[in-house]
Amino acid sequence: MKKISDYSALMEKNVRDLTFPGEELSSLYSPVSYALASGGKRLRPSLLLMAADCFGGKTEEAFAPAAGIEVFHNFTLLHDDVMDNSDTRRGRQSVYAKWGTNTAILSGDTMLTIATQLISQVSDEKLREVLDTFNAMALKVYEGQRLDMDFEEMEDVSLDQYIRMIKDKTGALLGAACKIGAIIGGADAKDAEKMYEYGLMLGVAFQIQDDWLDVFGDSTTFGKPIGGDINNNKKSYLLLKSFETGGPDAVALKEAMSLAAGDTKVKIVTRIYEKMNISAICRQEISSYSAKALAALKSTSLSDDDKEAFRMVVEKLTGRKK
Ligand code: IPE
Ligand code: IPE
Ligand code: MG
Ligand code: MG
Ligand code: MG
Repeated sequence: MKKISDYSALMEKNVRDLTFPGEELSSLYSPVSYALASGGKRLRPSLLLMAADCFGGKTEEAFAPAAGIEVFHNFTLLHDDVMDNSDTRRGRQSVYAKWGTNTAILSGDTMLTIATQLISQVSDEKLREVLDTFNAMALKVYEGQRLDMDFEEMEDVSLDQYIRMIKDKTGALLGAACKIGAIIGGADAKDAEKMYEYGLMLGVAFQIQDDWLDVFGDSTTFGKPIGGDINNNKKSYLLLKSFETGGPDAVALKEAMSLAAGDTKVKIVTRIYEKMNISAICRQEISSYSAKALAALKSTSLSDDDKEAFRMVVEKLTGRKK
């Protein structure tokens, strides 16, 4: 049976083998190589490869676009760490911390263009649809990132607004990875859309888990600092759900969130979350979006074995620690 870990192993090598024109300009390209060599789960390109394979395509034909999806993801991370003022990524200095804002911006831009070049390496018949999917996704990601920043300054953000924001910033990329893989594999339009829906819902579950790990994860395993969302006043799932629950704990939480950024704030907010049993509520919400992903998957024409391979991805990610 197909296994996502086999595709991630292929992608790890594929991404590390990338070379860039003009590489001698190391002030531009070293941060690109640094970001791409720092590991990560390679989730998005692995989903693309597995989808291409399951719908009957040749894995090799999907290598370049899969690498493109991973380069695009890493571009968003370079800029995200500037926006979130985040010094650590994958257990080491972020590009932003190591080289500064200007480098993170420009090397990020460079990665966006490299990503587009790689994505475009598909057959002429598929190029239009693949590029349309890629560009529509990219705009969604920027919209989501903009909302994420706008919400930092807003008092009242609803859970519906939050879900819209994470569908855009995170779900769209997972959805597009699955859809582009399906297109390359030769899926019909209906299956390609179902695979988008699967990835989108998986992405929502994935981001809620990311919000949870940002508070309750282990920074060494997670590879990112704990408490960053609290200190940045991010409207995370944990915060909005706690506010919605109401009562004296929610009042205390509102007060704690107005404290100055620092370890004390993180400690107090975390204690309130624990008191409100927010972890169990997060788990429920993650299960509910996982179920939506599985429903979309079920409605595709994939074989039972291939559906099982994608079902296991959902299972694996909902229990992830990194
Ligand atoms: C980080 O994505 C950005 C989010 C959408 C939360 P990943 O957790 O997939 O990051 P890497 O690539 O594995 O480091
Ligand atoms: C991830 O949001 C969304 C994108 C990078 C587009 P986060 O800001 O939560 O991601 P991490 O936690 O820094 O990886
Ligand atoms: Mg962010
Ligand atoms: Mg961030
Ligand atoms: Mg996060």
